[in-house]
Amino acid sequence: MRGPQRIAIDGPAGAGKSTIGEQLARKLGYLYIDTGAMYRALTWLALQEQVDINDGPALGRLALSSEIVISRPQVADGRQYTVTLGGRDITWDIRSAPVTRAVSPVSIHPDVRTVIRARQRAMAQRGRVVMVGRDIGAVVLPDAELKIYLIASLEERARRRYAELVAQLGEHNPALPSMQQVMSDIQRRDSIDHDNMQPAADAIIVDTDNLNIAQVLEIICRYVEDKS
Ligand code: DC
Repeated sequence: MRGPQRIAIDGPAGAGKSTIGEQLARKLGYLYIDTGAMYRALTWLALQEQVDINDGPALGRLALSSEIVISRPQVADGRQYTVTLGGRDITWDIRSAPVTRAVSPVSIHPDVRTVIRARQRAMAQRGRVVMVGRDIGAVVLPDAELKIYLIASLEERARRRYAELVAQLGEHNPALPSMQQVMSDIQRRDSIDHDNMQPAADAIIVDTDNLNIAQVLEIICRYVEDKS
């Protein structure tokens, strides 16, 4: 089969990138790489080692010495992939609230981005990939054969995140944040991520507000066929 070697899927938090990216990769038999997981793994390490999340050069050094590996799921517990750091499985740790709070400030440092982007480019050499993130089409893989940029309104993204949290934590769990809290968290991340979250000039913008997952996949698959 011909077809795009590299598919970039970018967009803001909660636009559906990881769900869509993982399903698309499975359908096409491509490797799925969620680049947010790399920033999250580094953030987890920084919190663990008590490195100041405002100290770009220190975080850059930490990134350089870190051994972050993303591989196909090694355990059947609902994970999309396995993330290890120095051999330790941190797949679920990187989804914790402290990591989610700190990851945007960590990922804005140029010293961090230089190291992580180089690793992402190296990973894309491994074969046919669906790479999901914020800056993949515009910066990491500017030559990607297909670039999709998913968007959705703030309200819709918050609604989706909230539904995910209810499914994870249960409706009556005291740890469940309010809808308002979820919305302001997304807004805060949007504003910090903003500069590293621009669609490439040749990206196809897909507004997912009124579309379900199957419909978004169908649209993207049509573009994949067009490139084949
Ligand atoms: O998609 P996510 O929520 O797991 O991403 C976590 C953070 O990582 C996000 O707030 C911004 C950052 N990120 C980035 O700057 N560039 C990417 N390509 C992917 C994620």
